[in-house]
Parts: sequence; structure tokens; C-alpha cells
Amino acid sequence: LKLAVLISGGGSNLKALLDAAADPQFPARIVCVGSDTDAPGLAHAEAAGVPTFVVRPGDSDSREEWGQVLAAAIQEHGVGTGPEPGLVVSAGLMRILPAGFVREFSPHLINTHPALLPLYPGAHAVRDALAAGATETGVTVHIIDEGVDTGPVLRQAAVEVREHDSEEELHERIKRLERPLLVETVREIALGELDLAGLASR
Ligand code: GRF
Repeated sequence: LKLAVLISGGGSNLKALLDAAADPQFPARIVCVGSDTDAPGLAHAEAAGVPTFVVRPGDSDSREEWGQVLAAAIQEHGVGTGPEPGLVVSAGLMRILPAGFVREFSPHLINTHPALLPLYPGAHAVRDALAAGATETGVTVHIIDEGVDTGPVLRQAAVEVREHDSEEELHERIKRLERPLLVETVREIALGELDLAGLASR
């Protein structure tokens, strides 16, 4: 299974996928990594010899156009929507993917989110859980649909919130579960153990 991974930040989830894919037994390989910015995490891909690209929203006249340019870059790198669809993995992409992009790739399009959706959707999930006084939160891997963090849930894992957790401490505790969860979810998809089309059609 060919993967296109999209990031905006440090890319520790990307790094976990790169490390997993370094094992020839792993049933998926990362053929490209894209970002909306000069994400530090792109260095992980470069170190692994994986092609990277940056598609800046500012270079397009609209969100939809940005989505079209991003989709073209992904497909140029071999992650297609044809008979042998690849998989687009949003792993810390801090952008809402436009409807046209989602329609083009979904259901072969997943996201990882640092909360137990439907709790705490949006860009500040960890901060929101802390602000709400949650004693538990977690991570969700889901199919991306045209909503924000609303697609069918694939896998979830819970994490305890500790007294006096800072946002960074809690987020790192979440990431310690998130990284292996994302790797396992990609493995299951690659092995055909998760029926994305069936889940997305419910
Ligand atoms: C992850 O926790 C992801 O769920 C959230 O952003 C974080 C990205 O972390 N959307 P990293 O860049 O993979 O370290």
C-alpha cells in the first residue's frame, strides 16, 4: 500500500510510520510526504530518502484550489485514486482539507486526532480537554469526511489526564499511544483488515 503522509509540524507520527515502513515486512510504504509549510518534520522524510513537497495555501487563490494542487502533488508521487488506491494519512496537518480534496481521496484518507472524538474536535483538542477538567482523554484515528473531525472512527485509545498536566505533557502522553496506534491502523488497512469503503458508506 502506497502512503502519502501530510504534516505541518515536528512529525513524530510520521517518524513512527517511517520507522515501521523501514521493515520490509511492513505492508505499506511511504512514497511521499507533503506539508502546507516548511514543517520541521519533513527532515524525517528527507533522512529516509522519501520525496517531500510543500504546497502553500498562500500560493493558491482559494482553499479549493489549494486542495487541487495538493491532490495533484500526491497523485504525481504515485498515490492515486484509481483501481489500486493508495492511502493519504493526515498526521498533524493543521489544515482542514477542502471538500473537493476529500471527495477525491476518501475513504482512502485518514486522520489522527489527539482526543476521543466526538469529544474535543478542532485544532486545540489537548488544551480543550485540560480546560474542561477531563480526567481522561485519548486519541482517535478516523476516516476523513467533509466535516471537521467527524468521519467514521477506526481506532481509539484512552489516556489518563494527571493533576497539573501541562498541555505539552498531556500531548506527549497522548502521542506515546498515538504513534503505535497509527502504525497499527495503517497496517490493518494495508492488510485489508479494515474496510474503509464499508465504514465510510454507513
Ligand atoms: C498529533 O498529536 C496529531 O494528532 C495532531 O497533531 C499532532 C502532531 O504531532 N493533529 P507530530 O507532528 O506527529 O509530532
